[in-house]
Amino acid sequence: MRILVVGSGGREHALVRALAESDQESTLFAAPGNPGTAQAATNIGLEATDLDGLADFARAEEIDLTLVGPEQPLVNGIVDRFEAAGIPIVGPTQKAARLEGSKAFADVFMARHDIPTASFRVFEADEYAEASAYLDEVGAPIVVKADGLAGGKGAFVCNTLEAAHDALDQIVQDRAFGAAGDRVVIEEKMDGEEVSVLVLSDGAHYVLLPPSQDHKPIGEGDTGPNTGGMGAFAPAPIVDGALLTEICREIVEPTLQGMQEEGTPYRGVLYCGLMITEEGPKVVEYNCRLGDPEAQVVLPLVDSDLIEIFQNLADGDLRGKSVHTVPGAAACVVLASEGYPVEYETGFEITGVEDAEALPDVSVIHAGTRLTEDARLVTVGGRVLGVTARGDDLSGALDRAYEGVNYIHFDGKTYRRDIGKKGLAHLQTS
Ligand code: AMP
Ligand code: GLY
Repeated sequence: MRILVVGSGGREHALVRALAESDQESTLFAAPGNPGTAQAATNIGLEATDLDGLADFARAEEIDLTLVGPEQPLVNGIVDRFEAAGIPIVGPTQKAARLEGSKAFADVFMARHDIPTASFRVFEADEYAEASAYLDEVGAPIVVKADGLAGGKGAFVCNTLEAAHDALDQIVQDRAFGAAGDRVVIEEKMDGEEVSVLVLSDGAHYVLLPPSQDHKPIGEGDTGPNTGGMGAFAPAPIVDGALLTEICREIVEPTLQGMQEEGTPYRGVLYCGLMITEEGPKVVEYNCRLGDPEAQVVLPLVDSDLIEIFQNLADGDLRGKSVHTVPGAAACVVLASEGYPVEYETGFEITGVEDAEALPDVSVIHAGTRLTEDARLVTVGGRVLGVTARGDDLSGALDRAYEGVNYIHFDGKTYRRDIGKKGLAHLQTS
């Protein structure tokens, strides 16, 4: 089996690693990949958004299965492109990927199908005055979002009216997110804990991966600006059996059924970003792909053969399939560059990765790293590495992950020391 993984971050390294552990023999490629994926795959010099180049490569190299990590190629229609050329690929079509590609589309879709989410209004960019008046009418706290993809930076949770107007100005007047700000979505602020539920669907049937929790803000105690994610753990103790049943009944099933009814069945990974509110689970956002860093803690818990699952997904045949998980928990602590997510320097040498990986059940996932010509590993991004560990329970997984963190050094190494604390708190009270 020849498999192509598209993308270059921690999620893609985690995916390559998990595929390499399958019982099935495979030859793996990553485009463009990173020094982590290069350990088990051949990195090829094609960007994730080079749809023509990727399709040509897949055809020439007789790739049996393509898995897409990031949202941009999916929203740009990589699946439509591959399917038209008869090349097997896992993921939603461009139309189905609008669940992530347009927050307005997602909100209106949820309203049509009675899927619980925040109350919202959508404004076109030329309705600035109306949007501004709406902010004044509703008041803070309030959430202001650019409609399109903005690399995770287009959502502003505003605790004051001033901040809300500032967000609106950035999106609509300063065009800080370009065409992603052609529309703006204003939402009620929901309160609660966030949970990530990753679903694999063939359009009609689905299987769930273990629910996980991310840590979005840069600072401990959830302070400071939002990042791509500073750490994660799975399974999430807040999601007990009853809550999971409710999530499936109220959110996952109506979403898949709604997409089917609208003639855009959702095939691929559906990431339901949920807020567990006092009124029950509500959707914060949909993503059309695996989460990052969630993939780093969810994939190591899957005991079933991942290649077979993805193959079933590509064949559109998940009927009667299930995903078995191993006992215990996984945790990931992200090591970032100092200054991330605002401004940071790169090019600092990284040491200690091999020592951390020598610890039992610890793996170091590469996100923003690069090998120099003289084979030194250096930082190249905001999120640099994810130190992931498995343990008998959450506490054990966290201890191991932080032990691994201590071995790794680079100038400006920044991480949160409270990853998983919210999960431990639920275990103590349950
Ligand atoms: P998004 O870009 O929609 O994924 O939002 C990024 C983050 O902003 C989410 O993970 C939440 O932490 C927060 N957020 C977005 N929308 C809301 C909302 N309506 N209420 C509360 N928090 C939100
Ligand atoms: N961890 C959040 C995301 O993948 O969008």
